[in-house]
Amino acid sequence: MAKTAMITGASSGLGAEYARQLSAMGADLVMVARDREALDDLAAALRTRHGVGVEVLAADLLEPRQREKVERRLTDPGRPIEMLVNNAGFGLPLAFERNDIEDEVRHLDLHVEVPMRLSHAALGPMLARGHGRILNVASVAGFTPRSTYGACKGWLISFSRWANAAYAGRGVTMTAVCPGFTHTNFHERAGLPPGKEGVPDWMWLDARTVVAASLRDAARGKAVSVPSAKYKLLVTASRLAPARLVARAAATGR
Ligand SMILES: NC(=O)c1ccc[n+]([C@@H]2O[C@H](COP(=O)([O-])OP(=O)(O)OC[C@H]3O[C@@H](n4cnc5c(N)ncnc54)[C@H](OP(=O)(O)O)[C@@H]3O)[C@@H](O)[C@H]2O)c1
Repeated sequence: MAKTAMITGASSGLGAEYARQLSAMGADLVMVARDREALDDLAAALRTRHGVGVEVLAADLLEPRQREKVERRLTDPGRPIEMLVNNAGFGLPLAFERNDIEDEVRHLDLHVEVPMRLSHAALGPMLARGHGRILNVASVAGFTPRSTYGACKGWLISFSRWANAAYAGRGVTMTAVCPGFTHTNFHERAGLPPGKEGVPDWMWLDARTVVAASLRDAARGKAVSVPSAKYKLLVTASRLAPARLVARAAATGR
């Protein structure tokens, strides 16, 4: 188990669940997000419950100065980070042509530029030590045509496949985590209340199962983790089905 894990987007949803599960396994944490109060509350609870060290690093990853603070923490030689979970993200409420283009650029930055920069910062020290794990929280949307969200997540999947093959032999693995619809604050924050998007109940996963499955897959050094049997089946079917059918099915929800 990683001695110290950094998790971005640790104030809510999947990131908070990574914090709960990794600290229960004995890992110290560095928790990153903008909402300092939410991070402080969770950090205090985890310190008490599991006796681990938890650092709170409040930062808006879209602000270069604040992001650089996080990069510096990743490269601090005296306080090594053995696991990085690139998880912070948000959804956009409208169709591409109706979204504000600046919102689209921020969305692209948080889902692609930020994990690329943080992975780059983490990788140098991890390779020098000969071990480390990076998890990139992508999505099953990365396997199908699904607006800029699917495109960003597809980038993360492709990057993780390449990096895992390139660096596993030197002790560093990279895993793209590809959940389906998961109960978190994601949909509500994007202005899309969960359960009201025409997504049937059976398609929803809970964060606990997603995080546990992804940590098992990352420990095995897998490049891609698709939590739950039903989404594994859907991903396989999407590879075999005609492109037009896949595009129509992918238009369900957001
Ligand atoms: N829920 C799903 O159905 C689903 C499915 C597949 C993939 N995912 C992916 O899972 C990841 C986590 O999302 P979630 O579902 O757990 O949603 P969530 O509950 O809304 O959590 C998103 C996290 O990202 C952080 N964040 C957002 N903007 C940030 C910024 N500029 N700087 C720093 N942190 C920022 C938020 O913290 P602050 O607001 O405190 O900054 C929050 O902790 C995302 O990458 C998402 O694309 C979600």
